[in-house]
Amino acid sequence: MSEMMIELLDDFGRAAVDGLGQPRKTIPARFFYDRRGSELFEEITRLPEYYPTRTERALLMAHSADIARLTGVGHSVVEFGSGSSAKTPILLDAVRPAAYVPIDISADFLKDSSQQIAAAYPDIRVRPLAGNFTAPIALPNDLDGPLIGFFPGSTIGNFAHPAAVDLLRSFRATLGTDARLVIGIDTRKNPRLLEAAYDDAAGVTAQFNLNMLHRMNRELDGTIDIEDFEHRVQWHNALGRIEMHLESVRDIEFRVAGRRFSMRAGETIHTENSYKYSVEEARLLARSAGWEPVAYWTDCDAMFGLHVWQATARGIEP
Ligand code: AVI
Repeated sequence: MSEMMIELLDDFGRAAVDGLGQPRKTIPARFFYDRRGSELFEEITRLPEYYPTRTERALLMAHSADIARLTGVGHSVVEFGSGSSAKTPILLDAVRPAAYVPIDISADFLKDSSQQIAAAYPDIRVRPLAGNFTAPIALPNDLDGPLIGFFPGSTIGNFAHPAAVDLLRSFRATLGTDARLVIGIDTRKNPRLLEAAYDDAAGVTAQFNLNMLHRMNRELDGTIDIEDFEHRVQWHNALGRIEMHLESVRDIEFRVAGRRFSMRAGETIHTENSYKYSVEEARLLARSAGWEPVAYWTDCDAMFGLHVWQATARGIEP
């Protein structure tokens, strides 16, 4: 690829060229999820070190009747970033909605998972929407409200605070003033457990991170030698986040989308932040985005938090 004009590049191309051109190189985490990245993420969710998925599932199962009591039954469920919809049946069994609207950026994943849900729940209208849930979404206008938002997996943790607040405000705008939101949020904990969860012994998370480089080689005519990079993970207590980086192990040069980039040994490309919230921090986050916390459950080791929030009638305070 000769040097393509920036406006001719797709979203990933623009983000890669822009992010690699910064003094501190960075590529947004949403670009992990091409087909290979989505498969690797599914593998991560089954790793012994990656506690969020199994802990959240157990919390959903233990508290599904309480959730149904708080949300009511027979309304519609809107899932943001539904992925493989792995936890959805637990919620659907409890709240028996009239309709289920899964929203996901990956049209492939969305098609497969919606077909599976539709086959398993013939009484529920399944209305998949392919798209980016971080932008405002027009829902089908025949949904039975009040709507129940579902945002599991601590995906909110991949957004920095101002973006997390914006996202939750936009969920409230999408779902309406009488909505409830069932949201999973990972907790602050012993950094050793966090670092193990993001740097597992089998090296699956390393492959997931390195796939960002493979993706640039595949889609943007990249010339990156993957062997020049190592997966790095670091907990930042003051920021309340675990960071993932790709560290160059030697001085290197490579091309992406026709541009030339160089890195010194030890320099990194920052690929992901995963914020962790104490229960108080999670409640502050809710209130700053027009939601009122109504229920919170955690496991006996406080590894993960499951919250139910209600849209505040008065909206967002100044
Ligand atoms: C999708 N997201 C909530 C995951 C997380 O834990 O931040 C992504 C992930 N990155 C590495 N492992 C899992």
